[in-house]
Parts: sequence; C-alpha cells; structure tokens
Amino acid sequence: MELHIADHPLIAHKLTVLRDERTDPGRFRGLTEELVALLAYEATRNIRVVDKEISTPVCPMTGTKLSSPRPVVVPILRAGLGMLDGMLKMLPTAEVGFLGLVRDEETLEAHAYANRLPSDLRDRQVFVIDPMLATGGTLAMAIDFLLERGVSDVTAICLVSAPEGVRHIEERYEGIANVTVHTAALDEKLNEKGYIVPGLGDAGDRMYG
Ligand code: PRP
Repeated sequence: MELHIADHPLIAHKLTVLRDERTDPGRFRGLTEELVALLAYEATRNIRVVDKEISTPVCPMTGTKLSSPRPVVVPILRAGLGMLDGMLKMLPTAEVGFLGLVRDEETLEAHAYANRLPSDLRDRQVFVIDPMLATGGTLAMAIDFLLERGVSDVTAICLVSAPEGVRHIEERYEGIANVTVHTAALDEKLNEKGYIVPGLGDAGDRMYG
C-alpha cells in the first residue's frame, strides 16, 4: 500500500478550520469540497491519459485527454457524499458508484446498507472518497466490494486518517491489490470509542446532523 500525506500550507489551513468544533455545517461542507479538490490534484497524478490532436487559434498541437474507460468515483455514504462535488469538479466525466456503509458504534464493525456500483469494474481506475479512515473496517469493506467486481487498483482519498486504519489496510491488501491512500493528515491515534484523535469528530454528523 502507498500512503501519501499532504504537505501543503493551504490544505493544513483549511483542515484546521474543518477540525475546529466552532465550524458550522455549511462551512464544514464548503471546506470539505475545497479540500477534496486540492487532494485530487495529487491523487490523480497517475490517471490514464492519451494524446489528443487539437488546433489552437495559432496552430495544430498534440494535447492530452483522459483515456477511456472513464474513471470511477465511489463516495462512501454518508460522509463521503460531502466530497463528491469537489471530486467531480476535477473529474467531470467520471462515472459514480455509491456505497452506503455504517460503522456500529459499539463493535466498530462496518455494515453495508447500499451498493450501487457499476457491475463490471475491470480495468477501471477507481477513487474511493471518505473523509475518515479510523479502524479501516469501512474502507476495507469498500475495497472488498470493488475487488469482487474486478478492480485491481484502488485510490482512496481521505481527510483525516489514524495510524491503526492505515496499518489495517496495509496488512490486509499486501500482495492482493494495489491500494493507495491519500490523506490530508495522519493523526495520532484512535480513542477508546474508535474516534480519531485529535480528528474532527463525526464527519457525517458535522455535515448533515
Ligand atoms: C465514518 C466515516 C467512515 C467510517 C470510518 O462513517 O465517514 O466511513 O466512519 O470508520 P472506520 O475506519 O473505523 O470503519 P460512519 O460509520 O459514522 O457513517 P456516516 O458517514 O453515515 O456518518
């Protein structure tokens, strides 16, 4: 597994406002959208492209366009939905698949309540978006659904991650799939309730609660 931790003052600034408990849901959603757009810049560095012939007003030239098949963006509901608009601003032609997953607050195990992924994902580049990577159970379940549909490369974009979750994903997919995680921050740890410390609280509640 490859882990990329953003190192950019603008991302650090926006993430600090996002973490602040005084930030209201409207501002929280706006910042989430801005942050995902900034993270997408690096996360799409290996997106597949082909040459495209065009003419500028001055002369013909060979440019670049995204190759087909189109990339797929998969938000994990609920909180991942708050990252979708920002991601689609960067990749307006992407196909979107939805996964509804929720973590049991006692056992911390993820449960699926919705799965609307395209049925055949062989050879597709897939970007999973979810603001939080805590124990890693949710992301692992999402990756398992994607592998079942033939995906071999998964890029996850998260805002805040815990070392425990990163380790979980690393160990589980070692030698099985190419997983890359882009995160705006790698935090200190999980607390006894499975919350990321210092984290930002429950992203879904802060967006929609
Ligand atoms: C949060 C978060 C992730 C998950 C991370 O969602 O958005 O999906 O928990 O936890 P994990 O890494 O320990 O599995 P939650 O289950 O609270 O659902 P919600 O987005 O509907 O609020």
